[in-house]
Amino acid sequence: MSEELIAILDFGSQYNQLIARRVRECNVYSVLVNHSTSPAELKGMNPKGIILSGGPASVFAKDSPRCQAEILDLGVPVLGICYGMQLMAQILGGEVEKGRSGEYGFAELHTSQDSSLFAGVPPYSQVWMSHADKVIELPPGFQTIARTDDCDIAAMWSPARRLYGVQFHPEVVHSIHGAQILDNFVAKICGCSRSWTITSFIEHTAKQIAETVGDDRVICALSGGVDSAVTAAIIDKAIGPQLDCVFVNNGVVRAGEPEEIQKIFGNDFSFKFHGIDAEDRFLRRLKGVTDPEEKRKAIGDEFIKVFVDKARELGNIRFLAQGTLYPDVIESHSPTGAPSATIKSHHNVGGLPEDLDFELIEPLRELFKDEVRELGRELGLPLSIVKRQPFPGPGLAVRVLGEVTKERLDILREADLRVQQEMEKYEHYDEIWQSFAILLPIRSVGVMGDERTYEHTVVLRAVTSQDGMTADWARLPYDLLDRISRRVINEVRGVNRVVYDIGSKPPSTIEWE
Ligand code: XMP
Repeated sequence: MSEELIAILDFGSQYNQLIARRVRECNVYSVLVNHSTSPAELKGMNPKGIILSGGPASVFAKDSPRCQAEILDLGVPVLGICYGMQLMAQILGGEVEKGRSGEYGFAELHTSQDSSLFAGVPPYSQVWMSHADKVIELPPGFQTIARTDDCDIAAMWSPARRLYGVQFHPEVVHSIHGAQILDNFVAKICGCSRSWTITSFIEHTAKQIAETVGDDRVICALSGGVDSAVTAAIIDKAIGPQLDCVFVNNGVVRAGEPEEIQKIFGNDFSFKFHGIDAEDRFLRRLKGVTDPEEKRKAIGDEFIKVFVDKARELGNIRFLAQGTLYPDVIESHSPTGAPSATIKSHHNVGGLPEDLDFELIEPLRELFKDEVRELGRELGLPLSIVKRQPFPGPGLAVRVLGEVTKERLDILREADLRVQQEMEKYEHYDEIWQSFAILLPIRSVGVMGDERTYEHTVVLRAVTSQDGMTADWARLPYDLLDRISRRVINEVRGVNRVVYDIGSKPPSTIEWE
């Protein structure tokens, strides 16, 4: 790629992807590479600068991850962050002290000397520290450019070699001027022109996909959500006719969803779209099931069967594309094979049989949700997809409490449709993480006209959230609640009561099952 590049050597810090993201926010492309990448390989990538990431290890540990010393001699600026700074100091003959108490959390950084790294940063500013070891003696040719109360050498600089080290984490938001510092590094120090955009990400990724896939074929399960849609759209750009996308209507989707997916993906792309109506099959499988976990398992198992049947029918497919995002891989096996990263592998399509041993393609695994939405917009996906709220894999089955029948699903779908229609008109809709209806397994007494009714209760749930891990119930205006309630009760047969869920997570969850 001709694009200017910052290479980030991955020493296993939990913040590594954030560094990559912050650099990209400066409109400079960045990639994480394994810490053991050779100087020759790095040189071949032609980076404008190199960042040595932080990491949980100590430079004193026997098998701590290291890089070759020549990486500091490639003639491009290098910024060591936390562990990366300690490693740089140790390699170049400075002294690192083994951690005693360490320094964690906020600290006040005092920049003691003008350096282009701190251009625009006030003399005193808040930074985020997370370290045990620290540099106590500079390597030859280095100067101290910042300190904190607990750390005399909080930042160092070798003017001749253009090597920099910071003990704090500029990539986290708690370092108030961290973004400025990284921007100074990539623009002022490395001389990047900041020409990278999401469009160049698309081109770069599409080119990579085309190289990886060659003449082979790719299969992708479309769920209707933004992640799988963007995955399909970007692969389509790379190798369209070699891609097969499968959308399974499992009968627990929202009103109009299969038709909308068919309309969007059936025509405007060059991949082959396979819409499978498996509603009856799923509903048979869900008959009599009331336990939430059993519902999840039933739907997951059935999905695999349908997907596997289709994959076998299509035959001869080498790759499976998945819309895995960065938050899905945070705790998982690192893309760069970093030493500290382990655990949890994320498979949206898990449990595939051995003869369908696909190789994975995950073009979004370095991105956060908001970047994926931006990508989706850029790829021309409709806003109805790009702005879509999260929707659980087991769909409406976990929103029909108790047994899932076609009749009860239809009542929920009709209620949910009205909730969506009214919510989409709400001026602060973009601030809502999820808004939906739930059907309770109880009836209550009401009156309609002169008639006494004994009908279903629908719960309205609307929450705000950053990432779904915690959530607060949305303070919707009374008028909006009133409109939703009136429409649901008046227009949906079988419902005579709407209640609003004011539980926050924790201790409640967003979904009810
Ligand atoms: P909870 O209910 O745990 O939900 O607060 C957090 C977020 O996860 C979604 N969710 C699921 N997504 N399969 C999924 O793909 C599931 O089984 C599932 N359960 C919950 C939920 O919609 C919310 O965004």
